[in-house]
Amino acid sequence: MTGASAEASALVLGIETSCDETGAGLVEVFGDGRVRLVADVVASSVEQHARFGGVVPEIASRAHLEALTPTVRRALDDAGCRLRDVDAIAVTAGPGLAGALMVGVAAAKAYAAAADKPLYGVNHLAGHVAVDALEHGPLPKPCLALLVSGGHTQLLLVEDVASSVREIGSTIDDAAGEAYDKVARLLDLPYPGGPPIDRLARAAGAAARDSIAFPRGLTGPRDSRHDFSFSGLKTAVARWVEGRRAAGEPVDVASVAASFQEAVADVLTAKAVRAAAELGVDTLVVSGGVAANSRLGELAAERCARAGIRLRVPPPRLCTDNGAMIAALGAHLVAAGAPPSAPGFGADPALPVGTVVVE
Ligand code: KG4
Ligand code: ZN
Repeated sequence: MTGASAEASALVLGIETSCDETGAGLVEVFGDGRVRLVADVVASSVEQHARFGGVVPEIASRAHLEALTPTVRRALDDAGCRLRDVDAIAVTAGPGLAGALMVGVAAAKAYAAAADKPLYGVNHLAGHVAVDALEHGPLPKPCLALLVSGGHTQLLLVEDVASSVREIGSTIDDAAGEAYDKVARLLDLPYPGGPPIDRLARAAGAAARDSIAFPRGLTGPRDSRHDFSFSGLKTAVARWVEGRRAAGEPVDVASVAASFQEAVADVLTAKAVRAAAELGVDTLVVSGGVAANSRLGELAAERCARAGIRLRVPPPRLCTDNGAMIAALGAHLVAAGAPPSAPGFGADPALPVGTVVVE
């Protein structure tokens, strides 16, 4: 522990390697449970995956191996401290890519053993929620989280991010970001597809949003209320584009982008706001790479305001995968007095969302 007792605080190092971002973050947690971002360094291998149109697990693992030590060192340097000044270490134990996770877990174990620090193997999904406390202060208990990224599309009921996270809905096929990436590919736009589609849609203006009637998955009266589906939407976009091309007609890429984006944002926000209202939860946290989407943010703000729900969206840098989110979750665990993970814990690519910290 560092500092005087009234200001007692602990410094937590977080390590993230579940997908294509190698992240190391440092978060300070105070006696009253408040958390503060101290350092956040991310090395991304996204450019190495671009020509494949998606993350290649072997390439990601290799990139983590190369980037991990320098990334942790830079985070410590940025914070002006050494490994021995850290009070606890947290690492993503899952869910994620097996080989990628193993790199982070092995490294974290080595750091923890070398410096004799407690180690927490934590859940990546809970990290995406915990990170918002760095920007907007303590998380209300409960809150509802909408996680939207290339790998996740989930609605989580978070009673307490350190101990009770329950999935109430998720995608039954593609994740929202995955749908963006696949549609971008169809339209000959670069990977990752979210940013170029968002830019085109924004430039096309409000009228373009409804120019093509794309389907809203799982929104019928008998459909699952809290689950999502984006594969039908992706197929509808593909059919529409192929139809135009086959007829020798031009494809208005901006209209397709805007109408596709509207379908995604409409379903995500409608379901999240309805779930919050039904559950009697007054705060919605939207996180993950797709949370950076301009239309999603706009629609979520409109609909939350109308329903009397407080909306919290972390800044884009904290929405995408990073080490600070894992450090933030570790900080919540330290504040809650949670026991560290057993030394023999392993990476779990399918770690259930309800397991915030592995035993
Ligand atoms: O959270 P993230 O960095 O990585 C994981 O997948 O965990 O999210 C990446 C995803 C990609 O699918 C990317 O296309 C999408 O987030 N994305 C966006 C935007 N920026 C990134 N999707 C829609 N609009 C954006 N502005
Ligand atoms: Zn993620």
